[in-house]
Amino acid sequence: MRRSLSLLLCLWLLAGCGQAQPDAVSAPEATAPWAHGWMATVANPDATAAAAEMLAQGGHAVDAAIAAHAVLGLVEPESSGLGGGGFMLVFDAKAQDLAFLDGREQAPAGARIDMFMENEAPMNYVQAWQSGRAVGVPGAVALYKLAHDRYGKLPWATVFGPAIRLAEDGFTVTAKMAGTLERLAPIARIDENPGAAEYFFPGGQPLAAGATVRNPAYAETLKRVAAEGPSAFYTGPIAEAIVASAQAAPLGGTLTLEDMANYEAIARPVVCGPWRSLSICTATPPSSGAMQIMIPNLYDHRVPEGATQAQRIRAFVEAQRLAYADRDHYFGDPDRVAVPLEGLLNPAYLEHRAQTLGAPAETATHGDPAAVLGGEALSALGPDTTLELAGTTHFSIVDAEGNAVSSTMTVEGPFGSSRWAAGFVLNNEMTDFARVYAPEAPEPANAVRPGARPRSSMSPTMVFDEAGGLLMVTGSPGGNSIPAYTAKTILGIQDWGLTVQEAVNFPNIIARGDAVRVETGMAPGAELAVSLEAEGFNVQAREGENSGLHVIVVTETGLEGAADPRREGNVLSGPTP
Ligand code: DON
Repeated sequence: MRRSLSLLLCLWLLAGCGQAQPDAVSAPEATAPWAHGWMATVANPDATAAAAEMLAQGGHAVDAAIAAHAVLGLVEPESSGLGGGGFMLVFDAKAQDLAFLDGREQAPAGARIDMFMENEAPMNYVQAWQSGRAVGVPGAVALYKLAHDRYGKLPWATVFGPAIRLAEDGFTVTAKMAGTLERLAPIARIDENPGAAEYFFPGGQPLAAGATVRNPAYAETLKRVAAEGPSAFYTGPIAEAIVASAQAAPLGGTLTLEDMANYEAIARPVVCGPWRSLSICTATPPSSGAMQIMIPNLYDHRVPEGATQAQRIRAFVEAQRLAYADRDHYFGDPDRVAVPLEGLLNPAYLEHRAQTLGAPAETATHGDPAAVLGGEALSALGPDTTLELAGTTHFSIVDAEGNAVSSTMTVEGPFGSSRWAAGFVLNNEMTDFARVYAPEAPEPANAVRPGARPRSSMSPTMVFDEAGGLLMVTGSPGGNSIPAYTAKTILGIQDWGLTVQEAVNFPNIIARGDAVRVETGMAPGAELAVSLEAEGFNVQAREGENSGLHVIVVTETGLEGAADPRREGNVLSGPTP
């Protein structure tokens, strides 16, 4: 196949590894006709049903993705929606091509590097999170359009049908949404801000699980976007409502109508890296997708032959510690900071890096690809101080022609900034930047810069076999833990012999900084915690984790999918229509 997925580290588009590139090490074309039907796994059954409705009428995976996400913005507003942004990795089976579409929120032109500082100290996190300064230009609607223009098979207006119907006829509030509202009200402004308070707390009481709720403002917004396209969102009354909400006290932001009108979703390079005979393809910065290539390769350098389960888990922990330290130090908006991606993924660097681990309880420090590989030294970067909270969703879709979407969408914290406009909440993605500013120190890679996109942990990923055939579609929400959650599914399925559902259910283990968090509420988490502690790691036992892994695996006999039991989603599938 044209992509030479198996053998080359390939920065798609940038390095010319995409279409029509003569191939030094080509693998056979993946030409067998697709015979596996379609499948969607999404975090909420109403949204999965919307995807299924599109797929059953022959829609492209992208049509299903937009339909599902428009529903998620209604039924799972704590996680994502029109007021937020996200990433979409799209596989085009016929062209054997992949694209990474970036609909990440963008800092307003008036954003400042010290906007989350107060008296030379970072302001309290809750204050920053609930402020208007936290609101970035929402990217979801522009992302829908970019994806639909490239791949959509069904009419643009059709994909909004299920969400408009549910917003008008009513949907059932889930336990997760009701529980998040209840837990959030004492700390956030969700029960105070105009619009949000009336919608989520009618009569002063939080929406209860099982209640039927209508959202006519959301239906109206979607109808306008369906009829007029993204200009109905980025200009005119909807944009004015977003700007007014972001500029309102307390700590109003600088978001303007000009920022809204200037927003563009971007097609960025995909990065593919070899791992054993497979190729792992994922999103480039500002996403942290490249960790999905770093972790399995570092793992292979650490795991002994014939390893026991305990040794495999230890190698997974070590690989994460190294990869997180590099990610934390180097990753930011690639349009604002030079991210040394090729160096970090270079096999020689990874082999060297795997031997640089300190003691288990020490904080892992970043490596230096330039020093290992030669070449220009990298400019100094300040320490990373980024903090991420829950409020994101992931879905995976394969359509009846074998096209696939892996998409992670977010409003950042639960219900974003708690600010409301035109039927949805606004994101707080600006707090995904490093918020600490020290004038005398070098700027961190992920510093707030006007017009920049904050670094993200969201890692929509696909794995391909030697022949270029699609093997896995994976990804998760979970803030900084996303790279660990997602890599667990790749190693779980490809190395630990787990089925897709077993890999999703397997205890999450997150090794960043000087600690290793182990999910003891899922078996065999308690055992793993004990053995890691005995090895000297600073183990933090956690009853539950916030993953939302929605994964599809292609087997010889068909598609197998899993929805994360830690969230509320499901898997639907069907034959080729
Ligand atoms: O882009 C990011 O990395 C974060 N805004 C994602 C936050 C998140 O996943 C919270 N999840 N539950």
